[in-house]
Amino acid sequence: MDYFNFKNSRLHAEDVSISDIVEAVGTPCYVYSRATLERHWHAFDRAFGDYPHRIHYAVKANSNLAVLNVLARLGSGFDIVSGGELARVIRAGGETGQTIFSGVCKQDWEVTRALQSGVGAFNIESDGELELISEIAGRLEVQAAISVRINPDVDARTHPYISTGLKQNKFGLSEEHAMEIYLRARKAPNIRIRGVACHIGSQIVELDPYRDALEKVLDFSERLAGHAIEVGEIDFGGGLGVRYRDETPPAPEEYARQIAEQMQSRGLVIPVAIEPGRAIAGNAGILITRVHSLKHNEQSTFCIVDAAMNDLIRPALYQAYHEIVEVAENGEGERNSYDVVGPVCESADFMGKDRELAVRPGSLLAVRTAGAYGSVLGSNYNSRPRPAEVMVDGSQFHVVRGREDVSALMQLESTLP
Ligand code: LLP
Repeated sequence: MDYFNFKNSRLHAEDVSISDIVEAVGTPCYVYSRATLERHWHAFDRAFGDYPHRIHYAVKANSNLAVLNVLARLGSGFDIVSGGELARVIRAGGETGQTIFSGVCKQDWEVTRALQSGVGAFNIESDGELELISEIAGRLEVQAAISVRINPDVDARTHPYISTGLKQNKFGLSEEHAMEIYLRARKAPNIRIRGVACHIGSQIVELDPYRDALEKVLDFSERLAGHAIEVGEIDFGGGLGVRYRDETPPAPEEYARQIAEQMQSRGLVIPVAIEPGRAIAGNAGILITRVHSLKHNEQSTFCIVDAAMNDLIRPALYQAYHEIVEVAENGEGERNSYDVVGPVCESADFMGKDRELAVRPGSLLAVRTAGAYGSVLGSNYNSRPRPAEVMVDGSQFHVVRGREDVSALMQLESTLP
């Protein structure tokens, strides 16, 4: 459910016409809806009801300061994977105490900054990480809270690039290995054990993999209890999918109910933290692009647009489907089945293939469900400046990232003396 709808035959974001935004900022541009972000965050929060829970929005999905700030104002926590994301959370007014530092390769400077800024906990994924955090915490004379991320070896049945809970993935640790780390961690003077972490993948559209993963995490937590290690929280990661085309991902209520029932069946009430990214931001953003030209050959009809794989790489990288709609309802110009392609010099540069559209040069198109893993995965390939980003809030819109200037592309470069 989102707030991108047609009114008076034009696509709107909340109460603002997309055409008005384009007039002000040009194309391509990302448009986010504040009401949609808030609705999705509240859906998770309400889903858990009275069950003790925290929502740590996964910053990687969309790290625009305005997005983070909207969620921070709701009282959201954050899940980060780099010093850069930490800096964004701080700049956006997020609470560092409600921020969890995940990721397989935390650098010294990142751990130092995280500890100095009072990050809530680290989800650790290797022996080396425990040593590093322990050593830096000792030097800074602070306590570091940690959870160990276990890899439950569960198939999330999603695209192989975004599946993370199988043995062949680099993420997490086996239960045996994690246990060794916990036993060491409890003796480390500057380490406090917070709980257990797990994240099995992204764009998960069934509940079964979550059920299997949680069973393993709970078995493991009971083993920890046998060693007198108290699990104060289970960080169950993110991954709940969204509808791009015809997927029917579970609603947050079903997801939360299953977790609560599994706990209940063991007589447990362990607080749960979740790290949703896509399910909060995905449908809260669209990418607007303008048709440059139409071109036919013997095999295909191409609709060449001004957005490219450098702006939205998901179709090229994951063969992802994003719905494409005309900003003028029912379109304008010649109706045809088009391959919607961008200006980049790669055959992988497409937004969608075989799409029924009525367009002519100059028409505007919206690529939907682009709020998560859209702009954040952008690059400057082909020396293309990054697009503007706009957030709509009711009848107002705000430019939350200006269009990049060509000179900015070369700012850090120089020629030889
Ligand atoms: N927590 C951890 C530890 C993660 O690695 C991720 C995502 C999340 C939470 C958030 O997952 P979400 O709720 O957004 O599914 N670029 C890919 C997705 C990569 C996901 C990486 N990790 C895509 O565009 O599909």
